[in-house]
Amino acid sequence: MKTGDRGARAGNGNFLWLGIETSCDETGVALVEERAGRIRVVGALLTSQVNRHRPFGGVVPELAVREHARNLPLLVTRLLEEAGLRPQDLRGIAVTQGPGLASSLLVGNAYARALAASLDLPVFGINHLEGHLFSPFLEGDGPIPFPFLGLIVSGGHTLLAAVEGWNRYRIVSATTDDAAGEALDKIARLLGLPYPGGPEIERLARQGDPKAFRFPRGFPEEGDLRFSFSGVKTAVRYFLEQHAERRSDPRFLADAAASLQESIIRTLCEKTLQAARQRSFRTVAASGGVVANRRLRQMLEEGCRDAGLCCRIAPSGLCTDNAVMIAAAAAWKHAAGIPPSLGTDIDPGLPLAL
Ligand code: KG4
Ligand code: ZN
Repeated sequence: MKTGDRGARAGNGNFLWLGIETSCDETGVALVEERAGRIRVVGALLTSQVNRHRPFGGVVPELAVREHARNLPLLVTRLLEEAGLRPQDLRGIAVTQGPGLASSLLVGNAYARALAASLDLPVFGINHLEGHLFSPFLEGDGPIPFPFLGLIVSGGHTLLAAVEGWNRYRIVSATTDDAAGEALDKIARLLGLPYPGGPEIERLARQGDPKAFRFPRGFPEEGDLRFSFSGVKTAVRYFLEQHAERRSDPRFLADAAASLQESIIRTLCEKTLQAARQRSFRTVAASGGVVANRRLRQMLEEGCRDAGLCCRIAPSGLCTDNAVMIAAAAAWKHAAGIPPSLGTDIDPGLPLAL
């Protein structure tokens, strides 16, 4: 593998990166251009496999790998064509190295390394969580405001990280059981809603009253930063059994969705604000699929404003998995003089803080 910089930037001083993300069930490719530490998204394509996995109520790894292998080369060709660029215009390739499904990660990595070898380009292996962590800074122009408190809420992770600088991440708090997105997906299934459940619950919740019912919250004591979402999931199951006769009442379902969503979101916001206060952070940056939720965005923004904190939230369209965040993380790190830190192998359990 070639990991060194070619030493030369493209003639105009811009550095063009191809990003590849195949950690789960989305095949994502993106082109980002970096100039003096500033990122511009040139183009991005994503094929979601949601419809293929939906009948199974979750992601089927064998199906995912076949879809990635079929889609990835087609997407890269189309992306370059649509941008009017050639593979020779690339200066680096960024690929998700973990965490994720091993077989899915392998497809992206094998493809990235083969393409890089054929073009004699450097490869940056990027931690998927690192991609999420810095995605709030894809909007806005200034430098990354280190230090900051990062909140990542996705289908696989719920954590707070103290981010002091590049590669200097410390986990402040994480879930002790389910991730928030995982809990929403499981609860949606109980409610008879399709996968992925988070957006479905949000849709239903819009017609409902968030104060209609009370659902338990994990570790509610002030100052306890740990997350837990399996309790609310179990509570919803019993609740639905107790109210079996109302299961076909749309009003009841909307109120239940609004109330359980409120319980999860309030927990996320309150613990984030408590952590920021405890650790004296001035900036909070939120990312991950669940952060696409409008109620969460609004509550976090308001909470930060009241606490005098600067709040950065990933653009809605870049909260769920995508390759822009992977390419951007590589571009920023490269511009900051950080050498590619990860080996050539995928790591399905790659932690954020090494
Ligand atoms: O970041 P992501 O795309 O994949 C992982 O890295 O896990 O997150 C996917 C998760 C799923 O659990 C999905 O239900 C949830 O994000 N999600 C949402 C919304 N959109 C996606 N949860 C709540 N509200 C949404 N609008
Ligand atoms: Zn993700």
